[in-house]
Amino acid sequence: PRIVLAYSGGLDTSIIVPWLKENYGGDVICVAADVGQAEELDGLEAKAIASGAAECYVQDLREEFVTGFVWPTLRAGATYGRKYLLGTSMARPIIARAQVEIARKVGATHLAHGCTGKGNDQVRFELTYAALAPDLPVIAPWREWDIRSREDALAYAAEHKVPVAATREKIYSRDRNLWHVSHEGGPLEDPAHEPESDLFLLTRSPESAPDRPAYVTIEFHEGYPVAVNGEALGPVELIGVLNEIGGEHGIGRIDLVEDRLVGMKSRGIYETPGGTILYAAHSELEQLVLDRRTLSLKDMVAPRYADLVYEGRWWTTERIAMDALVDATQKRVSGSVRLKLYRGSVTVAGRESANSLYDERFVTFGEDDVYQQADAAGFIRLFGLSARVAALKEQEAAVA
Ligand code: ARG
Ligand code: SIN
Repeated sequence: PRIVLAYSGGLDTSIIVPWLKENYGGDVICVAADVGQAEELDGLEAKAIASGAAECYVQDLREEFVTGFVWPTLRAGATYGRKYLLGTSMARPIIARAQVEIARKVGATHLAHGCTGKGNDQVRFELTYAALAPDLPVIAPWREWDIRSREDALAYAAEHKVPVAATREKIYSRDRNLWHVSHEGGPLEDPAHEPESDLFLLTRSPESAPDRPAYVTIEFHEGYPVAVNGEALGPVELIGVLNEIGGEHGIGRIDLVEDRLVGMKSRGIYETPGGTILYAAHSELEQLVLDRRTLSLKDMVAPRYADLVYEGRWWTTERIAMDALVDATQKRVSGSVRLKLYRGSVTVAGRESANSLYDERFVTFGEDDVYQQADAAGFIRLFGLSARVAALKEQEAAVA
């Protein structure tokens, strides 16, 4: 066999390399995608080879991750469990797609991943495989082997001469990319327990954030963020800049008890500083330029879009159809929003758009000559007609 493994360089995927060779034979080819996990990528190739891999491919997918996965989810306004901005969920389909592409290139016979059998990620990886490589069998060691703890994993690594970075005890299960970092496990498994302040990697606590607000202006073109404070930025840079500003002001910490796809509730802490700013700005701009029925249509689609992303159903006709609907609404969503960031909160300070549906001539409390107040009387009579008829009938019945 030639097995292509989704590889992260962590202890778990590192021991999977010798385990696959021992249990399935053949070559193991590692694939890693750079979606902005930063320092985790250092020395990855050497580590894979030292663990016994025949080859290791590392692909920089940062820009496409943002334009092809993050932006559509943002434009759809999708949030899962009322607040999760889907940072891990939307990275899986692009990582798994890269893995399938390499698998084709090297003539792989199997695909493998290191996701736990209790989680969401296994589903997301395998639904991508199903859609893009239905012919390739999947190996998921966590569902097969008897390694149960970190101690087991370390012992296995030592036995098989897998290099392990001498890091301190790893308490949390984390996943980081350009958009967010997630933290699960350890003391967080008690949902009554407040996270320790040293958990956080991207954000200051609101109480240690500056006591002066920062203003940030985000410009959108057709629902895509294109500039910050008047400076045009590429997608990767733009998120980086907003992560900095947001992190400094304690923006984007989320504590969520969520429903995993496999059935149980889990507790996660998320940091999405730039994303939180972008969601707030985008929503404000939509509110200015879209009519209420279009907005309510979008609001119906948003939770469905979120479920789809969370559940790993990215490579489907349903997603393409929802993108088409969202796309039609976003043609108008150009303009800018000015936000005030202050100790963990994001509030809108102003918005502007050439497509604004707001018109002072109509709404003003001052004098106007475009709106006839007398028109409202007839409107209300007809708008309330069914209520009036029903009440009249009740009165007549009471008299009879
Ligand atoms: N619960 C989140 C999700 O399902 C985050 C998962 C993080 N994954 C990980 N392997 N640490 O999207
Ligand atoms: C998942 O839901 O697949 C991730 C669980 C974890 O390792 O944090």
